[in-house]
Order: sequence, then C-alpha cells, then structure tokens
Amino acid sequence: MKDVLGIGLIGCGVISKAYLERARTFSPISFVAVADRDETAARRQADAFGVEAMSPAALLAREDVDIVLNLTPPAAHAAVSTAALEAGKHVYSEKPFVLDPAAGRGLLDLAASKGLRLGSAPDTFLGGSHQLARHLVDAGAIGRIVSGTCFVMNHGMEHWHPSPDFFYRPGGGPLFDLGPYYLANLVQLLGPVRRVSALSATAHPTRRIGVGPRIGEDIPVDVPTTVQALLGFASGTSILFAASWDVWQHDLAPMALYGETGTLHVPDPNFFGGTVRLTQGSEEVALPDWDHPFLRNNSRNSKGPVADFRAAGLADMAQAIIEGRSHRCSDAFALHVIDVLCAIDRAAREDTVVQVASGADRPEALDGHAARALMV
Ligand SMILES: NC(=O)c1ccc[n+]([C@@H]2O[C@H](COP(=O)([O-])OP(=O)(O)OC[C@H]3O[C@@H](n4cnc5c(N)ncnc54)[C@H](O)[C@@H]3O)[C@@H](O)[C@H]2O)c1
Repeated sequence: MKDVLGIGLIGCGVISKAYLERARTFSPISFVAVADRDETAARRQADAFGVEAMSPAALLAREDVDIVLNLTPPAAHAAVSTAALEAGKHVYSEKPFVLDPAAGRGLLDLAASKGLRLGSAPDTFLGGSHQLARHLVDAGAIGRIVSGTCFVMNHGMEHWHPSPDFFYRPGGGPLFDLGPYYLANLVQLLGPVRRVSALSATAHPTRRIGVGPRIGEDIPVDVPTTVQALLGFASGTSILFAASWDVWQHDLAPMALYGETGTLHVPDPNFFGGTVRLTQGSEEVALPDWDHPFLRNNSRNSKGPVADFRAAGLADMAQAIIEGRSHRCSDAFALHVIDVLCAIDRAAREDTVVQVASGADRPEALDGHAARALMV
C-alpha cells in the first residue's frame, strides 16, 4: 500500500482553492489532477497549483487517482460520486453529501459492493475547539446533557458568492448549506437524532447578486430561508436549532449545551477554532491544557484570522485507507446528518413530528496527537 494517495478534484469553483492550498498541510494526500465541466475553471486551478487539468471522464480514467474529491454544487454530488465509484475510485464529497437519504443509501451500497471508501464534509467538527468540547463532554465535565441551543443566522450568500444560485435551490438554503456543520457537530457531541419537529418560512421570493460578473441580477428563491427546529436525540437531550438567511443582526451564541452540573459554550461549528467556555454550576472554570494543531490560526476571513484545516476529513480518510481503519467523516455519519436535515425539512412542510430512520455511531475523537499524525 502507498503512503500517499493521489487526489483527483472535480469541480474547480470557489471552494477548490481552499482544498488545493490546505492539502499541502497534510501528509497522506497529494493532488494529481483537476477537472470541471468548464474547461477554463479547471485550467485556472491547474495553472495556479501545478497539477494537470482534464475532463472529468479523463480524470476518472487516471491510474494515479485513488480518491475523487467531489466539489461540484449540491445537485451534482450524487451523480459525480456515483460515476467515480463506478470507475473504481474512493470518493470524498463536499456537503451536503446528497440531497435525500435514498440517494445516500444507494451510494453507500455501491461503495460497499466495490470495497471503496466514501466520505463527506463537513470536517470542521475535527477542529481543535470542537475536539476540546468533545473531550469535555466525554469526560463528564457538565454531567448528563439535558438540553441546548444552536443558532446559525445571517443575511444570506448573494452578497459574496459570484454564482449564488445553488444556495437558493433544493440542496441549499440555510438548512442544507449550513445545517451540515451544526448537525455534524451536535451528532459527534451527543450521538444520533431520533425525532424532529420544525417550522419554516421564506422572506423574499428573489435575491439580488451583489458581486462578480452577474452583479445586480435577481435569482429565484426555491427553498425556505428560515428554519426553526426542535431536535430530540436518542440520548434524551433536546436541542433548539435555528438556521436563517433572513436575519440582519442577533446576539445569540452559536452553540451551548446545558448539562446537569454546568454549561458548555461551543464556538461556531462552521470553523475549526474559536473559544470554548465551561461553567460548573454558574461559575466559569479554567479549561484543561489542550494542545491541538487544528486550533492554530492559519488563514483569514472577512472577520480576521481563523483556523482553517479544510481537507482534514479527506486526509483522515486517506490515512484510514492506508491503515485499514475506519474514517471519521464517514458515509454513514454523513447519511445520518442528511437524514436529520431532510426530517427537519419534512416536519416543517407537513407540520408533523418526523422520526429519523437512520442512526450513526459518533466518529472517533481526534485528539492533538492523532491530528498531528495527519500532518506533514
Ligand atoms: N464556497 C464556499 O465557501 C463553500 C464552503 C464550504 C463548502 N462548499 C460546498 O462546496 C461545493 C461547491 O461549492 P462552490 O462554492 O465551490 O461552488 P461553485 O459554483 O463556485 O463551483 C462549482 C464548480 O463545479 C462545476 N461543476 C458543476 N457541475 C459539474 C459536473 N457535473 N461535473 C464537473 N464539474 C461540475 C462548475 O462548473 C463549477 O466550476 C458545494 O457543495 C458547497 O456547498 C462551498
């Protein structure tokens, strides 16, 4: 078995740069080729990162591509992942993994029948702060977790993304676009969700693009842009979850877990880092020493320096293939997250409580030592 796996990237849009840059941080992966249905997009990233550009079909035929990284828009995920599995490649997809659980189960069956790995973003739950939260939960720092809150609310995507159409089509909206980060972190901390209820709304029938060559163009909104849900976990914990692109300002924290003996404040699961806070009773207490490489600020966004270790989940899957162990951002875990998101969507549409059919094991924790083992 090789000790570095070749990555072939399909979908050279906005997020591809982050993967191509961050991959240099991780030891078990190396990009060998990029493809896009738009040849110019593939050529641009190939020139910028010193890899070969080609058609998706040519990429799938390459012997040196072990894992196909699927960075196409949500509606294309299932078809591109299916073609890659059919071509005998392992697949790691951006989120949302698929648009409905049936498509996800089909992909899991196909991967299993071919003995191939399938994985999906988000991998931010592997971040140093979220793994500290995981360590504290597992150590019983706040006792049994009774309830919690989780909020991701802003004013949408059309002001910064040059082609924001997919955000407002099925597979988008705050629920399917941002929900995976928050649900994945809740499930890694609390285990699987059993049932959900929800309400949703759409504030505006169209959105106006604010940047890029199509600036000023109105695009249709085909999905709810505000979703408020109550999540019942198998553990008995209930979480109030709101995801909205109809909010200009709010003062609500991204995630708080309320335990029998204290409160755990978890930073934004859309990022790898951020400040964890712990109380025992109502008194804030010091955190244990926590040395984790995925805490370091190594990038910037519009609000300042951030820890961004995107591709950590892909690197963990490559390492898992090499070592013959299970990978953390697994297909079964991603399928459960999609199942929960679809259950929320259905609960809101049908005004009913929806039982979540799938379960999922919590991914194995990734402590500082295990994270360092993935890095160059
Ligand atoms: N943009 C972000 O900040 C961001 C962050 C995290 C995750 N993601 C996720 O990454 C994925 C891609 O997002 P993006 O912002 O890069 O999108 P994008 O629209 O900028 O790029 C998508 C690319 O895929 C190509 N493409 C579409 N269908 C294809 C097909 N069938 N075969 C080959 N190429 C195809 C398009 O030509 C385009 O170049 C989405 O699932 C999104 O949710 C994006």
